[in-house]
Amino acid sequence: MFMTRRSFLMGSLLSGGAVLAANATGRLYSLPQLNELYIPELIDARSRHQSIALEVQEGSRHFFPGRESITLGYNGSYLGPTLRVHQGDDSEVTITNTLGEDTTVHWHGLLVSGNLDGGPHQTIPAGATWRPVLPIRQRACTLWYHSHAHGRTARQVYAGLAGMLIVSDDHEKSLGLPSDYGVDDIPLILQDKQFEQGTLVLPQGMMTTMHGRRGDTLLVNGTVNPVAKVPPRLVRLRMVNGANARFFDLAFSDARIFHWIASEGGLLEKPVALRSLRLVPGERAEILVDFSNGRPATLTTGPDSSLSMMRMMTPMSGASETTVIEFIPQGTGSSSLQVPQRLHAPEPRIPSTALRRRRFELTMGMEMGMGMGNMRRDETRMSRASFGINDRAFSMDRVDERVNLGDSEIWEVTGTMMAHPFHVHGVHFQVISRNGSAPQTRDKGMKDTVLVREPVELLVHFNQPSQGAPFMYHCHILEHEDNGMMGQFTVT
Ligand code: C2O
Ligand code: CU
Ligand code: CU
Repeated sequence: MFMTRRSFLMGSLLSGGAVLAANATGRLYSLPQLNELYIPELIDARSRHQSIALEVQEGSRHFFPGRESITLGYNGSYLGPTLRVHQGDDSEVTITNTLGEDTTVHWHGLLVSGNLDGGPHQTIPAGATWRPVLPIRQRACTLWYHSHAHGRTARQVYAGLAGMLIVSDDHEKSLGLPSDYGVDDIPLILQDKQFEQGTLVLPQGMMTTMHGRRGDTLLVNGTVNPVAKVPPRLVRLRMVNGANARFFDLAFSDARIFHWIASEGGLLEKPVALRSLRLVPGERAEILVDFSNGRPATLTTGPDSSLSMMRMMTPMSGASETTVIEFIPQGTGSSSLQVPQRLHAPEPRIPSTALRRRRFELTMGMEMGMGMGNMRRDETRMSRASFGINDRAFSMDRVDERVNLGDSEIWEVTGTMMAHPFHVHGVHFQVISRNGSAPQTRDKGMKDTVLVREPVELLVHFNQPSQGAPFMYHCHILEHEDNGMMGQFTVT
């Protein structure tokens, strides 16, 4: 529906209101309104005496004018505040669940013990409060938090239960990177949603389960058709793929170069100059973009590449490029900010021989116990798509793997049928090979979520004890996760 917008609208956009334009035949039609990007409130733990309060609540939101949608949020109607914590601190978060159902709050990428992780074992029942004290011991990075309630994750995250979590440290502060939150250090939570007549709907059905929930409308921080004013200088964008299933293949429409500076685990050794960047669900990236030439820039995404391995499926959007967000440089005054040459010490590499190996195959229903040829004969089973890892569906009561605290291991992960984003809780890892070859540029740095299209080998570091509550590993297509493509491990 709202597939294309053009920069010629820029003049009128910031004043709001639908923009009218004449097409070639002279007929007037209404183009979608552009909306100023919503910047979630920043809650810095240090300004709150290390005590942050989050309320999980139901709300309503007008994504489109005059159209009300029922949503979920933290301290508001949709998404949550950006939380900032600092290396070395112990930060308490008090989470009150005012919903009529269970939820959890998982700190995706935070290196804390299993009992603090907020996975499916740390249920916050309706009306209850959970009060974890999080020891922040890792380096600066961009993380996020979201619901992980068993069997409800996809629906609760889709409805809005997600937010950004920023860890800062002294080293990162000393680099002079853009750090003025919401001004030149901008959070971007990327999602897609399905709307009917402007109202948010929850796509249902077998194909939704198979592919993951997708929508025809892109949102950034919950804003439809967003536009952001930026200062005419170097700007840091912190991006989270917070979609249930959609892959984002990001590039600027003028093909400008930007500098990738941080992966999920924090700063890279050196900035990497790129023209495009893929973010799969759960992944984050920090980039620096130079707006000093004052020209507006459009960040776009290509068609959803996650389905390209499922040959019978065509992506929902036929457009080759869809606008994600427009940036308009505004104001004057340049600054001396430069892209630093070096960002971080190189990651130590552990020799990979003689480490314990484990194999994980992300398996999907149509391959479990029946070939494609059997499909028609077995429609009842076909209509119950099943998902698993190594052909076993997730069970809360079964520990799948037991790891020794302090070990590093090689995890070989392969997918089936389509591309899957694989995520492991409580660890960071390095990609040491992809499809038997050296990892690609996008595999650089410390990670917690990785695209599994070809088989990958991960060097995983287990430094957090599970402390009585197992950690999860799973596909971050939330419908796959909810339906069994997840396993759990202890670290002792
Ligand atoms: Cu982002 Cu197990 O989750
Ligand atoms: Cu996680
Ligand atoms: Cu998957």
